[in-house]
Amino acid sequence: MNNSDQTRVQNVSLPPDKVMHKLVSLAKRRGFIFPSSEIYGGLSSCFDYGPLGSEMKKNIKELWWNSMTRRHANIVGIDASIMMNPTVWEASGHVASFNDPMIDDRTTKRRYRADHLIENHIEKLRRDGKTDHAEAVQSAYEAVAGAPDSNRALYDLITGEAIKAPDTGSGDWTEVRQFNLMFQCNMGAVADTSGIVYLRPETAQGIFVNFHNVREASRMKVPFGIAQIGKAFRNEIVKGNFIFRMVEFEQMEMQYFVKPGSQIEAFEAWREERFNWYVTELGITQEKLHWYKHDKLAHYADLAYDIKFEFPFGTEEIEGIHSRTDFDLSQHQQYSGKNMEYIDQTTNERYIPYVVETSSGCDRLFLALLSDAYNEDVVDGEPRVMLKLSPKVAPVKAAVLPLVKKGEMGEKAELFRSELSTAFMVQYDDAASIGKRYRRQDEIGTPFCFTVDHQTLEDQTVTVRYRDSATQERIDMSRAKEFLATKIV
Ligand code: GAP
Repeated sequence: MNNSDQTRVQNVSLPPDKVMHKLVSLAKRRGFIFPSSEIYGGLSSCFDYGPLGSEMKKNIKELWWNSMTRRHANIVGIDASIMMNPTVWEASGHVASFNDPMIDDRTTKRRYRADHLIENHIEKLRRDGKTDHAEAVQSAYEAVAGAPDSNRALYDLITGEAIKAPDTGSGDWTEVRQFNLMFQCNMGAVADTSGIVYLRPETAQGIFVNFHNVREASRMKVPFGIAQIGKAFRNEIVKGNFIFRMVEFEQMEMQYFVKPGSQIEAFEAWREERFNWYVTELGITQEKLHWYKHDKLAHYADLAYDIKFEFPFGTEEIEGIHSRTDFDLSQHQQYSGKNMEYIDQTTNERYIPYVVETSSGCDRLFLALLSDAYNEDVVDGEPRVMLKLSPKVAPVKAAVLPLVKKGEMGEKAELFRSELSTAFMVQYDDAASIGKRYRRQDEIGTPFCFTVDHQTLEDQTVTVRYRDSATQERIDMSRAKEFLATKIV
């Protein structure tokens, strides 16, 4: 049957504030994401990826890895350890200044980010049309934000503006204090400061300290890049929004080493490539992606942009692209005493390379993909939930559904599943009506369902049902692998 000419799907529009609630529930029910150690009451901002979640996350990482390393002859990957010599974090500046300014409310005993309170206040003033007032607070804030001695000034702004806690309305504030986001552990048997090590707050430093190792081992010439996917840890004060802000998360980072002076050109090329990746490789709705240019730069950066995504709870960063100058390599040269210069073999020039960094958060991207894909519609008069994931990202690529589970049909379907599973993640489902089985697959984003029916036994064809249109066509079973391969590229 080919009914692709019929329009059987009617869209349903959904208010964004309802989407998060539905997503969290679907993610748990269908095995994408569970709260960590749930039987003990969980642990704040820690999550476990379930059977479908871990498949989907693996797909995201593989797509990133392939597009960043294999497609670029001058980019190679590493997998550095999470714990590093603690001097790394002194050199990188994280020990001294990887801090968030926090403030406590004495009455409610709740803790807040002082900078977030002020930024939200400025936004509210703007929304209320108090533009002059907003600009005045903004410039007072910009004058102090990020400065090492900003605590008193931030406190004065919060109290001077009579800013209240957004959730409780209380404003019984303590002083502002700086709170370092790195997790400390003790290595070895002695629990004194000599054994302090940190869980890395970014994967990037594992790349910087391996600059010469990788360059020599892989015979790389500038410009070249080093890519890495791995866990990072931050003791975030403000957590929440499901997997958006976690204390343990995964980063996909690439440092591109260039000759000083060529960093802006490289930066612009990476900016374009990274933005396009989300749209063309992952199928994210382009209109939901936005650029944010940092006007106030970190002391080591000469240019920085974020790619932001329209989450149901607001437009937030998913990737940072930073021109980091020679800051990190110079710092490591100073702290380690090892020369971090590059010698150009053709010109004999010596320099410390500049670095363009692309830093994407895997978990945030996972959430962006889920929320972009979440869809409710009506098919043949029946409401359905569908994850409109790109076939490349979808955890299950195809389902094999026998019309009758027993006898020759069931056996044929099982053999068919086994054959497909040598190349693709496929599911076999023979429980409940065919309509219910289609709905189960729609809900987890499976792009194709193969149904083995009576005709299959006669002519070795199966129906293939397309998730988005709910239309079907018949193909030869022997062509199914090729069919999937052409659809999942
Ligand atoms: N090496 C640069 C760096 O770490 P960042 O902007 O702090 O830059 C990069 O982090 C990306 O890591 C962010 O765009 C975000 O996607 C992800 N990320 C950062 N903190 C996170 C957190 N607490 N939970 C989940 N993802 C986070």
